[in-house]
Amino acid sequence: MRWWRHPGGMPPPSLLAVVILMATASAAAAESLPSTAPPPPGDQADASETYIVSMANQLRPLDFTDNTEWYSTKLRSVAPGAGILYSYQTIVQGFAARMTPAQAEKLESKPGVLVVSPERRYVLHTTRTPEYLGLDRVNGLLAQASGGSDVIIGLVDSGVWPESRSFDDAGYGPVPARWRGRCEEGRNFTRSACNNKLIGARSFAASYQSSANKGAGPDWTKEARSPRDVVGHGTHTASTAAGSAVPGAGLGRMAAGTARGMAPRARVAAYKACWAGGCYSADILAAMEAAVADGVDVLSVSAGVHGGDLAAYFKDGMAAGAYSAMEKGVFVACSAGNKGPGIGTLANGAPWLTTVGAGTIDREFPAYFILGDGRNLTGVSLYGGDPLPPKPLPLVYAAAASNDTKGKGGFCLAGTLIPEKVAGKIVICDRGVDHVVQKGITVKDAGGAGMVVTNTAADGEDLIPDPHVLPSTSVGKMDGDAIKAYAASDANPTGVMSPGATLTGVQPAPVVVGFSSRGPNLVSPGVLKPDLIAPGVNILAAWGSDAPPSGAPGDTRRVEFNIQSGTSMATPHVSSVAALLRGARPQSRPRSGRR
Ligand SMILES: *[C@@H]1O[C@H](CO)[C@@H](O)[C@H](O)[C@H]1NC(C)=O
Ligand SMILES: *[C@@H]1O[C@H](CO)[C@@H](O)[C@H](O)[C@H]1NC(C)=O
Ligand SMILES: *[C@@H]1O[C@H](CO)[C@@H](O)[C@H](O)[C@H]1NC(C)=O
Repeated sequence: MRWWRHPGGMPPPSLLAVVILMATASAAAAESLPSTAPPPPGDQADASETYIVSMANQLRPLDFTDNTEWYSTKLRSVAPGAGILYSYQTIVQGFAARMTPAQAEKLESKPGVLVVSPERRYVLHTTRTPEYLGLDRVNGLLAQASGGSDVIIGLVDSGVWPESRSFDDAGYGPVPARWRGRCEEGRNFTRSACNNKLIGARSFAASYQSSANKGAGPDWTKEARSPRDVVGHGTHTASTAAGSAVPGAGLGRMAAGTARGMAPRARVAAYKACWAGGCYSADILAAMEAAVADGVDVLSVSAGVHGGDLAAYFKDGMAAGAYSAMEKGVFVACSAGNKGPGIGTLANGAPWLTTVGAGTIDREFPAYFILGDGRNLTGVSLYGGDPLPPKPLPLVYAAAASNDTKGKGGFCLAGTLIPEKVAGKIVICDRGVDHVVQKGITVKDAGGAGMVVTNTAADGEDLIPDPHVLPSTSVGKMDGDAIKAYAASDANPTGVMSPGATLTGVQPAPVVVGFSSRGPNLVSPGVLKPDLIAPGVNILAAWGSDAPPSGAPGDTRRVEFNIQSGTSMATPHVSSVAALLRGARPQSRPRSGRR
């Protein structure tokens, strides 16, 4: 998760209150449509960026018939020729547009204009979890909520892969009558992609598109300008929240079982606002606004700043949007970020949204490695293919089998392994520089039989398993150092790699995972954050099958399900429990604590 660095300091607290009151004074829930404004003219292209402008609608002069017309006039008074990207009406009052910093400063001094703040860029922050959370118990929330069948969960994410069996609508009744959303047509996405399970799918790219002239914009030949998820993340979070039950799921041999979302009967609506270039806050805000106007009960957002880079709430589109969503009765859960374990590394810390950290579940994927001298070391792996034979194989550290001349011989970088020195052996590769699954591809291509990934000081003892292409195990720094020392000192070093396994009932669990961002939130240190943790380590859920399971560039495999970790994966567990609660107690609403 990452945002742009944000210039500017703290706002005066009084201003914060004003903005929030303004935002909530908007009673009308009229749906705002993304404008079809052309990209800004080329002459201001280099200096201009997207700003989110908060307006005091009650100050609109009577000669304007609508807010958008008034906004356009204001905008053009400082930036002639500029167009409005979005006119917001449901959850915040104001608009998004491109202009130069000087024009933004000028605009902020105009009557009726409350705050002009530069857009921020976020990045995206995964079959045993229902049982683990106790949702399965007879008389549990799941039973009381009948799976939350009339509850609608909206996910602001990278879109959805609608063909996934997790969105099968067999046995679902008609879409709830109050639903006002829709299924947007676009590249690789037709209206028929939606059904009684996946009831809405829309995409928001006006700001992303407008950033094209800064070199950060879209290449529409490479990604789908539609709700289609081409990276897998949005499909994973949506199916974690509310995927229909799919028997026989798993990633290869790993985590095999029935996959289903936490609120398996809830309806899903996907709002794609995260693209290859990131998640632009003007697009995110438009997506949140559309979701609230469409009638979602719960909003789940697994994106935000990288961590420890919080803006004042009135300058933070996500916080402002979440506030008014909450006021309209919509529960909002956001990921805390993956920047832990340092203190103050939190994202999305506003008091009125639920900030979700990541914990382990009682499942692990151990893959033991037994050295020639008898030591038995515990690593982790998601390799699900044929295991190595249970006999000692020669072991070599990549640094001793590489023609790299830049001091990176230990990292198994593409094109550096000498085939004669690795053929038929287990190769030790340091974690880092390249994608860890890419290293496996490199070892395999050079004729290696297996791989041991060793952490360096950068990753310490953190163990996250990866879906490797060849028999592999990943170990922490201490075991890694021991393996390398053994390989360097023994005349004929060998190792036996056990087939990876899925181990359940692991205790203690949950444990807060190292990467989960920590508080305090310095914008409002009196409010403890994150609010809670949820399962966020090694979570199995549906995947967009065009995206490789590892994300490594050389990985060409296709999978229907994938195992992922992150506060991104924890967040839909919380939004779905909120959906179950809404299903069981339809009158329940989030409270601002202000009443
Ligand atoms: C469109 O769908 C086809 C078939 O599933 C797939 O091969 C292609 O990569 C997709 N293109 C994009 C941009 O998603
Ligand atoms: C290695 O240790 C694990 C965990 O203690 C154990 O289950 C496994 O059988 C051991 N393997 C060997 C070959 O001793
Ligand atoms: C290193 O070895 C690989 C594999 O033999 C080869 O493809 C590559 O060209 C070599 N690179 C250098 C710099 O010698």
